[in-house]
Amino acid sequence: MKIAILTRGPQLYSTRCLQEAAIQRGHEVTLINPLYCYMNIASHNPSIHYRGEELPRFDAIIPRIGASITFYGTALVRQFEMMHTYSINRSIAITRSRDKLRCLQLLSSKGVGLPITGFSHSPSDITDLIAMVGGAPLVIKLLEGTQGVGVVLAETTKAAESVIEAFLGLRVNIMVQEYIRESNGADIRCLVIGNKVVAAMERKAKAGEFRSNLHRGGKSKIIKLTLQERKTAILAAKLMGLNFAGVDMLRSDRGPLIMEVNSSPGLEGIQNTTGINVAEMAIKFMEENLTSKDGKFLVIHS
Ligand SMILES: Nc1ncnc2c1ncn2[C@@H]1O[C@H](COP(=O)(O)OP(=O)(O)OP(=O)(O)O)[C@@H](O)[C@H]1O
Ligand SMILES: [Mg+2]
Repeated sequence: MKIAILTRGPQLYSTRCLQEAAIQRGHEVTLINPLYCYMNIASHNPSIHYRGEELPRFDAIIPRIGASITFYGTALVRQFEMMHTYSINRSIAITRSRDKLRCLQLLSSKGVGLPITGFSHSPSDITDLIAMVGGAPLVIKLLEGTQGVGVVLAETTKAAESVIEAFLGLRVNIMVQEYIRESNGADIRCLVIGNKVVAAMERKAKAGEFRSNLHRGGKSKIIKLTLQERKTAILAAKLMGLNFAGVDMLRSDRGPLIMEVNSSPGLEGIQNTTGINVAEMAIKFMEENLTSKDGKFLVIHS
């Protein structure tokens, strides 16, 4: 197969693993920076140009679209789809999961467990917003936050009010969420490929911290999932339409609660923790989806 990895980080661990796995399995790999691509959409013959030249046809792409370039990146993935190139994660699925609220709304509509979550634009009724999610202690999150930055635990109603007021005063979008105390500073990352959880790890916050992000000093270890956790992770990825996803959940007294579904899951933490070659499994999945019964590569009309 001719595979393109859409990434702005050719040197990143995940990119290199995917590249190496694909080469090892006999594929030709090109790394493409999405921001250097420009597209011709005004004809019956869609094309993509890259730094002055038209790109050749690829059989498949692996989009690794960062949050800061979601709009342009997903447009590019869509353009590849219009050219009948198979994408492990389709553009629409990336868009669905990238918008955290849209993701949670979709999951809740299908009965997937979530922490009770409120969302507000204006500070007009903070008291009711807090009451709506069950009162303090509660977690307040910047919608655009990542690696635990902008995730605050407010222990009291007073603290919650001040933090919400401050965030909304800055005109940023926030989520207000029930604090899942019994998760004990730990969360679970499930790596889903197709219909399977291929690897899972627990991340545990360091002492005195409730955020388990590895970037905040959290430690990871391999974990055995319950059947319900496994099913929930698979369902969450499926509802997003993602074939390759990182599903984050909290263990609670009422079962697994999904926090987020990630369409460009990082591979370093999960591979080092579990020893599982997730990158190779992703490439194999693509092969299976692009190979017909007689062994020829198919082009899937997306
Ligand atoms: N409702 C909650 N109850 C208990 N702990 C939580 C809750 N929400 C988040 N946490 C803890 O805080 C950590 C960071 O939260 P979250 O994953 O939502 O934000 P982020 O890591 O900054 O964003 P992203 O995962 O999109 O990069 C989680 O990994 C989890 O350990
Ligand atoms: Mg997180």
